Amino acid sequence: MPPEYPAARPRRLRRTPALRRLAASTSVRASDLVLPMVVKEGIAQPQPVPSMPGVVQHTRDSLRKAAAEAVAAGVGGLMVFGIPAVKDSRGSAADDPDGIVQQALADLVAEVGDATVLMTDLCLDEYTDHGHCGLLTDTGEVDNDATLERYASIAVAQARAGAHVVGPSGMMDGQVAAIRRSLDQAGFGQVAICAYSAKYASAFYGPFRDAAECAPRFGDRSAYQQDPSARDALHEVMLDVGEGADIVMIKPALPYLDVVAQAAAASPVPVAAYQVSGEYAMAHAAAANGWLDLDAVVAETLTAIRRAGASIILTYWAVEAARRFG
Ligand code: PBG
Repeated sequence: MPPEYPAARPRRLRRTPALRRLAASTSVRASDLVLPMVVKEGIAQPQPVPSMPGVVQHTRDSLRKAAAEAVAAGVGGLMVFGIPAVKDSRGSAADDPDGIVQQALADLVAEVGDATVLMTDLCLDEYTDHGHCGLLTDTGEVDNDATLERYASIAVAQARAGAHVVGPSGMMDGQVAAIRRSLDQAGFGQVAICAYSAKYASAFYGPFRDAAECAPRFGDRSAYQQDPSARDALHEVMLDVGEGADIVMIKPALPYLDVVAQAAAASPVPVAAYQVSGEYAMAHAAAANGWLDLDAVVAETLTAIRRAGASIILTYWAVEAARRFG
């Protein structure tokens, strides 16, 4: 039988906002948040992304302005994705010194300099005409080691343009080691790597593929991104740490908080989580129907991701959340 007056009464610490604030052990700070931004070559006006209300494909000019606003809000970093005007089978625009991301980075260096952390997505899918994250073999498979050479070259182009951190997101085996070696050889030993270490083959990337125009033209990414039912996440994280990753990332966030928690327990380097386009779109769609309170969902999901152990969160809500949490 439960005692009539139990000694432990957890509700004591929930009675007032001040008590709850004092007892809180998880916080979200603006400086933990990274804003993903897409810049597209050859457009005159920013283009709204219908499945991601509030998100646009930027022009170089609107990217600059939005970056300055994000920095003023105190966000911890920006993750830049580029869409080139011309795509080909090897994604030539990705490491072109005049490619869209390299030009946009130079703009951002001029606009915000070291006031925030400039990060770049390092992948090929936005740049290839087939939409896969690497080079293809004659039979249409993604060729791991040939792709590593491309990534190594893109890393140097992005570093030269001013990236503080490069973010390889293609899930090729050995990508961190290849990029680290290439950056070091080119004299960019100070440029860090945020590895997308555990990146699942996820349906939650759907809206982003509209935003970044990078849906694969055939097949899917299951032969390189992780299977949601496999237990290889920690292996991937520890391989990346061994290859020299400075930050390891888990993606998506909310459906994979168990993986975030495992990585946070095991990783000697900071763990990031990417709250992806589908997580954003889902909440906006429900809120637009009056089914969810958007602000409350943003606060709750970001808190949950931090509580699972992520020190850094990539989120399309970074600016709003930074203003709210400070
Ligand atoms: C690949 C990449 C993707 C995302 C980030 N980097 C798409 C994919 O793997 O298909 C998804 C981001 C999001 O959904 O918000 N370069």
